[in-house]
Amino acid sequence: MVEFDTVYNRLNTNCIKWDSIEDTYGETDLLPLWIADMDFKANPPVLDALKKTAEQGLLGYSPAPDSLYEAIQAWQKRRHDYAVSKEAILFNSGVVPSLSIAIQAYTKPGDAVLIHDPVYPPFAKVVEQNNRKLVRSSLLIEQGHFVINLEELEKQIIAEDVRLFILCNPHNPGGRVWTKSELEAFGKLCAKYDVLVISDEIHQDLIFAPHVFTTFTNVHPTFKDFSITLTAATKTFNLAGIKNSMIFIENPDLRKQFVEAQERNFQNEINIFGYVGTEAAYQNGDTWLEELLVYLKENIDTVSEFLKTELPEVKMMRPEGTYLIWLDFSALGLTDAKLQNQLVHKGKVVLNPGITFGPNGTQHMRLNVACPKETLLEGLRRIKHSFE
Ligand SMILES: Cc1ncc(COP(=O)(O)O)c(C=O)c1O
Repeated sequence: MVEFDTVYNRLNTNCIKWDSIEDTYGETDLLPLWIADMDFKANPPVLDALKKTAEQGLLGYSPAPDSLYEAIQAWQKRRHDYAVSKEAILFNSGVVPSLSIAIQAYTKPGDAVLIHDPVYPPFAKVVEQNNRKLVRSSLLIEQGHFVINLEELEKQIIAEDVRLFILCNPHNPGGRVWTKSELEAFGKLCAKYDVLVISDEIHQDLIFAPHVFTTFTNVHPTFKDFSITLTAATKTFNLAGIKNSMIFIENPDLRKQFVEAQERNFQNEINIFGYVGTEAAYQNGDTWLEELLVYLKENIDTVSEFLKTELPEVKMMRPEGTYLIWLDFSALGLTDAKLQNQLVHKGKVVLNPGITFGPNGTQHMRLNVACPKETLLEGLRRIKHSFE
């Protein structure tokens, strides 16, 4: 039995995934397969580093140490062939907070910001809450996978005078690992119209061979001039609660603007445990990550087999990366409310409603498979039961 098979009782551990759902849905015994964290314990070297810091007991304000920069640079080079320079690296307490800072740094109220539809829901929220104009570009589906609609994108950029694009690379919820040539075509279009690209690469390490992740900034030597990269070790290593993330900004002018906005928000000093956990994960995490990817792929295969034999009406988009599966329930002909209702109140299973990812997410659900097989199989049985 590998470690990933161990089922932990996460109830009453103050975790959103398990502990918030009774209040939200008014039901007990719900099985959560929603929010993107994993039901696995963190890698032991990360836990040891956090314990060591706690035991040392000196927890005053602390800057990012040189050893952390080195660990990040080594990880980026080793895993993604990206030679990020030390001066390009900034830190923040999360990718979503960094999105908000970037919007404030690079646009003014009323400016148009483009995102894909469907995409990770906070993208829309962060644009609207900063009083920018939200424009959504529909992804197309080709051979069962999302592809970028460059034609529509160009029209929208012109019509709305778009200033900024928030790219999800790899894509949540579709699990697309955009290829280098897709990113190149997309990036050239953005460059043509002076659209700045914020590339959210938090899922960059969760990639299934033969797919290869490409950091947007690295696609072409000119792309670093008009893009910034947001990433973190927290998704890869299941450390979301330590709230740490990185921003890579090679262009000095863009970096200065970002830092100024970050300082205006007093977000330039962050949690010591975030730094410690990130460094330990990047220094000691390769083997754990390789084993995780094998486990996740098996879970994805399990979902695929189950749906084929037990619930053929529900179609899955096979992810090339991430541990999230985009499920199409449209053949059941249910409204979004009815679909959610049946899953929660009949099946007693909680997924993320597709409609929260944008209008194109109607009649879809996002399933999180980063859990022990036993939990996943129970979840699949509950999904099936929802429609019996
Ligand atoms: C695409 C994407 N960006 C950002 C986040 C959250 O990042 P953070 O917790 O660092 O704000 C998630 C979490 O699921 C995500 O999927």
